[in-house]
Amino acid sequence: MKSDFRRLRPQAGHKGRDGRQFFRLFVWLLAVVFLCAPITGAAEDAKPPKPLTKYKGRKIAPTMTYHGADWLIRNTREQEEHCNTLIEALKIKPGQAVCDMGCGNGFYTLRMARLVGKDGRVLAIDVQPEMLHLLDLRAKAEQIENIEPIQGTLIDPKLPEAEVDLILLVDVYHEFSHPEQMLQAMRRALKPHGRLALVEFRLEDPEVPIKLLHKMSKAQIMKELPPNGFKLVEEYEKLPWQHVMFFERDEEHEEP
Ligand SMILES: C[S@@+](CC[C@H](N)C(=O)[O-])C[C@H]1O[C@@H](n2cnc3c(N)ncnc32)[C@H](O)[C@@H]1O
Repeated sequence: MKSDFRRLRPQAGHKGRDGRQFFRLFVWLLAVVFLCAPITGAAEDAKPPKPLTKYKGRKIAPTMTYHGADWLIRNTREQEEHCNTLIEALKIKPGQAVCDMGCGNGFYTLRMARLVGKDGRVLAIDVQPEMLHLLDLRAKAEQIENIEPIQGTLIDPKLPEAEVDLILLVDVYHEFSHPEQMLQAMRRALKPHGRLALVEFRLEDPEVPIKLLHKMSKAQIMKELPPNGFKLVEEYEKLPWQHVMFFERDEEHEEP
C-alpha cells in the first residue's frame, strides 16, 4: 500500500509537469500562429509569378529606373511629344477619378490633377517608391492636394474596383513584366464606360527616335488588349511620335 502511495505521488507530480508542459506548448503554438499570420499574408501578396521576358511575340522592355527621371521632365518634351495636345485628347472633366498608371515623377499626374480639380482625384501609381517621392516633392511645390500616390506591385496596381473614369498609360505598358495580371486589375478598376488610354511610341515609324524595345505597333497592341477583355473605342493619331488608343471594358469577355 505504502509503495502504491509513493507511486501515486510521483504520478501526480508527473501529471502536474505534463500540465505545465502542455500549457507552455499551447503558448508557443499561439505565438507561432500569431507571428506567422502576417508573414503568410505578405507571402501571398509578394510572390508574383515569374516575370515574362516576351508576350505574344513582343520582347518586354526593362523598367526605366528613377535615375533617369529627369528625362521625363526635360524641356524639349512638349515640343517632341506634344503633351498638351495629348492632355486635350483625353477630355478629362472636373470631379473625375483618374489614374496615371506608371506615373514616374508625375509629368502627367500634375496636369491631370489640375483638370479634375478639388472635387476629383488622381490615383498615381508606380512600382518605384523613389518615383513616388519625386512626384510628392513636385506636387507639394505646386500645392496640389488631390493626388493619391499608390505603390503598386508588378501584378497589382492596388486600384479600387469600378471607381475609375480614365486610366492613362504613357510609355508604360511595354514595360509590364506581368501584362495579363495588370490588364485584369485595370479592367476591374474601370467604371462602366470608363476608358483606358494607351500611349506608346510608334514602332511603324522609323523616324521616331526611340529604341525599338520601347516602341509598339498598333497590330501588336491589338494582339494584346482585346484578348484580355478590352475593346478599342477610339484612336487618336495626331501626336508626332505616339499612338493613342482608347479602350473600354469588353463586357462579353469572361475573366479566366
Ligand atoms: C518610362 S516611365 C514613364 C513615366 C510617365 N508615365 C511619363 O510618361 O512621364 C515608366 C514608368 O512605369 C513604371 N512601371 C513599370 N512597370 C510598372 C507596373 N507594373 N506598375 C506600375 N508602374 C510601373 C516605372 O517604374 C516607370 O516609372
